[in-house]
Amino acid sequence: MLTKNMNKREVINNTARYARETLEGEASGHNWWHVYRVWKMAQNIGQKENADMLVVELAALLHDIADYKMHDGDDSVGSIVAREWLEKQSVDEDIISHVCEIIKEASFKGAKVETKINTIEGKVVQDADRLDAIGAIGIARNFAYGGAKNIEIYNPEVKPELHESFEKYKKNTDPINHFYEKLLLLKDLMNTESGKVIAQGRHEIMEQFLKDFFNEWGGKA
Ligand code: NI
Repeated sequence: MLTKNMNKREVINNTARYARETLEGEASGHNWWHVYRVWKMAQNIGQKENADMLVVELAALLHDIADYKMHDGDDSVGSIVAREWLEKQSVDEDIISHVCEIIKEASFKGAKVETKINTIEGKVVQDADRLDAIGAIGIARNFAYGGAKNIEIYNPEVKPELHESFEKYKKNTDPINHFYEKLLLLKDLMNTESGKVIAQGRHEIMEQFLKDFFNEWGGKA
């Protein structure tokens, strides 16, 4: 699988260190701890789905290495940066190209934009990434992202939109609209059976949160 003296665990550990150094302290929700959670969830789901765990773990660790939201909307930067890193680690070409394909395909591009993921490894990483966008952590990340972009928590005069193109989706909206434009849609977009079960529980947490939010907004107890 790997050339010369580097074994799989060593490459994964080096990659975890690299991702941590690169993303440490990034405040908008795509920081190292997001990547850490996606990595752990991808291990959990990947094992149940009998995926190739080297590909799963590397793709999970590198999936936000140069996130498009931080690079003026260029969604190809991530796979280029990941490729450079994996070549330095002497990883085989078939693994590098699989990992890079997952990084390119895994991100959400708008409610009505289809993203196709072909391999079980890609499906696992996409599910793990999406699971971190929902539930209690998803709520926290959503507001952290809005804060980093200087957006108010909610403006009742701006209605949510289901985006037909990635270009339109990239415009920032307030965090409450973001629940309707993305986060509440994710449970029906899960690829794997284990992902679906976890997503259902996290979805209910968000629904309860929104119910409370609007009650409080309207002055109810
Ligand atoms: Ni991510």
